[in-house]
Amino acid sequence: MKKPIHIVSATIVTVLLLSGCVTENGDRQTDMQLDRKVDSVLLLMTLDEKLGQLTLYTSDWDVTGPTIRPDYMDDIRSGKCGNIFNAHTVAYNKKLQRIAVEETRLGIPLMFGYDVIHGHKTIFPIPLAEACSWNLGLMKKSAKLAAKEAAASGLNWTFAPMVDISRDPRWGRVSEGNGEDTYLGACISEVRVHGFQGRDLSDPYTIAACIKHFAAYGAPVAGRDYNTVEMSEISLRQDYLLPYQKGIEAGAVTAMASFNDLFGVPATASKYLMTDILRDEWGFEGFVVSDYDGIDQLRDHGVAEDKQHAGELALTAGIDMDMQSAIFVDFPALSLEEGKVSMDDINAAVKRVLRVKFQLGLFDDPYRYFDESREAEIVFSEELMDHALQSALESVVLLKNEAENGRKILPLTAPKKIALIGPLADNQLDMLGSWHAAGDHTRVVTLLEGLQKKYTSTEISYARGCDFYAEERSGFSRALHLAKTSDVVILAIGENQEHSGEAASRSNIDIPGIQEELALALIETGTPVIVVIMAERPLTFPVLNEKASAILYAWHLGTRAGDALADVLSGACNPSGKLVMSIPENTGQIPVYYNSKSTGRPDDPSNKYTSKYLDVSNNPLYPFGYGLSYTIFEYGEVRLSDAIIGMNDTLEVSISVKNTGDYDGEEVVQLYVRDMVGSLTRPVKELRAFKKISVPRGEEHKLHFSLTREDLKFVGGDLEYIAEPGDFKVFIGPDSENLKEAGFTLKN
Ligand code: GLC
Repeated sequence: MKKPIHIVSATIVTVLLLSGCVTENGDRQTDMQLDRKVDSVLLLMTLDEKLGQLTLYTSDWDVTGPTIRPDYMDDIRSGKCGNIFNAHTVAYNKKLQRIAVEETRLGIPLMFGYDVIHGHKTIFPIPLAEACSWNLGLMKKSAKLAAKEAAASGLNWTFAPMVDISRDPRWGRVSEGNGEDTYLGACISEVRVHGFQGRDLSDPYTIAACIKHFAAYGAPVAGRDYNTVEMSEISLRQDYLLPYQKGIEAGAVTAMASFNDLFGVPATASKYLMTDILRDEWGFEGFVVSDYDGIDQLRDHGVAEDKQHAGELALTAGIDMDMQSAIFVDFPALSLEEGKVSMDDINAAVKRVLRVKFQLGLFDDPYRYFDESREAEIVFSEELMDHALQSALESVVLLKNEAENGRKILPLTAPKKIALIGPLADNQLDMLGSWHAAGDHTRVVTLLEGLQKKYTSTEISYARGCDFYAEERSGFSRALHLAKTSDVVILAIGENQEHSGEAASRSNIDIPGIQEELALALIETGTPVIVVIMAERPLTFPVLNEKASAILYAWHLGTRAGDALADVLSGACNPSGKLVMSIPENTGQIPVYYNSKSTGRPDDPSNKYTSKYLDVSNNPLYPFGYGLSYTIFEYGEVRLSDAIIGMNDTLEVSISVKNTGDYDGEEVVQLYVRDMVGSLTRPVKELRAFKKISVPRGEEHKLHFSLTREDLKFVGGDLEYIAEPGDFKVFIGPDSENLKEAGFTLKN
């Protein structure tokens, strides 16, 4: 027997029952029922109550932007704030919900949003790291478990997934995204939405997702956060929109506008983005929230004369909820009188917000997310902590692993003495990465702890060696002493979590401070040095790359960082991560990405007049898709079912992959295509499929892929997706450079 539904207030009860769309036991609702419920509540609302539902304020528990309203509780009580973010725990959110439900006229429940970007309390690797797992099932599970822990903590909305494509590691927010590739980014966007929202948003273990930041926020000029975005509409549609679109098609019920302007119009005021594309082209039925104070910033953009004008631009463009500007709550009444906005504009936005609240089940039971025993049971549960480890293991990328005295440095089997050095070696907070929101750093396993647990019969000596930025070298001597008196050095250097994330662009993306100087001094001692680079963006380290014997790119791996790194270093786990962003040779190469165009003078070192630099190659230090294993995978030849296919045919592609090394391992097999001649210039290759396979040592696996014309389409000159007849190449390999190929022709 389902428990009777709890309706928020007598007034709403009556109306919902009269509208005949509430069943006694709150059965799942059809779209029509949902709309009738929403319309029934809308009819009861005053203008002020409507505008309150379009308003979102941060609590003072966490502040993620430049402004805060100290009296947000009074705003809730007066009906002037219908949504809260940056507040969590059952106890606190229940307190705020009681104010909304029991102290306001209609008792419309609050939504509680938070940046659950890569975990809530239990923190997983930063998204850019987890994307390097290329494991869509793992990333879906991360979202699902993050939703479970967040929902148990009184939340019902996350401002995630962030799906901004970026080719510019100077931009600090690459850390939150899924790298440079549109296809991979779109696949990840889809599974993360499914993970967060599940099949039924009213399920109290799921939360509303938010596709952000719409749109093209990851392409700011010069990699400087919040800066202008300049690109053609073809580039926008070809390279940047698909991950947002796939997230919407996956059912995301909210989206967030980006801070940047595009085509000369700030996204927050862009009808083209928020209505023409999002709603008219993609059929989005959820609501759009501005980013933090984004509506008021239309004045700084220079497109709004005052706050009222900013509100009018945003509302008529298709922004439904005002995060932190406190403009929607105060100005539309005047704008209505002046005919600058219509009541239809306001009602449309209110209905979208109410619709999501109904979908979340908040009208049935506004306290459904508030169970303290559930919170105690789920937060930091074994299930979450185990997954945090698995995700971290699959996020680590092995860049280099050379042999010393005839054997590979890694895995590190039973050394007698390890010198562990660096500012990230015994560091809990930075393992959480940026945007760790409610993450609890006291639960983090550091690299030092992880090694101590793993290498129980090894003497492990630790020295910080230096800091991130200070030019202080007094720590070098102890570090060098430990190196000289140990069998191996493990050096943990890179960025702290302040170096990346929002408002953390860097004009030079080298390893900060004197860390690389310390690394080179340690290498000079002659003791083998394993460099573990921890960062939230690709960094540049060409000199260190030459000198170091082994390099692991370990990002910021979250709560189980130390355990994961100890497993990888010891060989308990064979690393399988593959880069999702190219690592440049130097900052001057940026933007450097794998799916570039040929140009009319493709790079030819023997010909002066070709597209290249005088001082560095066109190639990144490490390319998209790159990552080594402790074992060896040998690829056979690419086999195609046909040399010629028609527009309605399917091309079967196969290849064998053999593990000829000494360890079982996982391999991400990548398939790229090239359209040799198009009506527009086409990239030299584009990722179109991938498979992560587990191949025990000595075994050979045969992989099959299918390609149709859908995989060969691109955005043509008329902005339509088209497939054109002609010659194509198929490439398959372990990364975007080491590839086997075969050709075929597509005929009309
Ligand atoms: C920030 C970020 C956005 C985040 C929001 C709420 O400014 O741009 O990604 O979700 O504010 O914290």
